[in-house]
Amino acid sequence: MIFQKLYSNFGKKSEITMKTTTISIPICIKDEAELTVQETQLLNEAKRATYRSYSPYSHFSVGAAVELDDGTLVSGSNQENAAYPSGLCAERTTVFYANSRYPDVAVRRICIAARDTNGQFCRRPIPPCGACRQVLLETEQRAGHNIEVLLYGTEGTYCLRSVKDLMPLTFDSSYL
Ligand code: THU
Repeated sequence: MIFQKLYSNFGKKSEITMKTTTISIPICIKDEAELTVQETQLLNEAKRATYRSYSPYSHFSVGAAVELDDGTLVSGSNQENAAYPSGLCAERTTVFYANSRYPDVAVRRICIAARDTNGQFCRRPIPPCGACRQVLLETEQRAGHNIEVLLYGTEGTYCLRSVKDLMPLTFDSSYL
């Protein structure tokens, strides 16, 4: 795509032409009733995991659950620490545990849920932080197939077909 833009160069406005590209991400938004049996089971695991969160500092309780290729479900929650950066998000806690416990079984799907400081499940779908996205990306590469991502919110669950959809323009080992 090529478009014209007014460009300010040291206060002097000039018209330049630049190439642009647009990345669009397909997201399916499902009500709880629209989730499949497997998705509902995974969501329930992620919700349950929020109650095992150790979050005395943020009071924000996050749960994640992964389904492996053989159907095994693994869940985890965010674990905080008085030395704040030493804590870990629910997604990485869960994926690292799944990969260390079942190194030969790939992750097929991940679901994330969170409860806010009032203890209520978040209205908006809970998105993973940048560091978790990077880890999920490598988990997907390691799996050798796409990992479906479910981001739960009481107003709807965002369903993405791949971690790559969460994180376009990614850096990965193919650049090395
Ligand atoms: N947190 C997660 O566990 N996952 C996310 O996707 C976002 C944030 C945690 C980290 C910290 O314990 C708390 O939520 C507040 O940031």
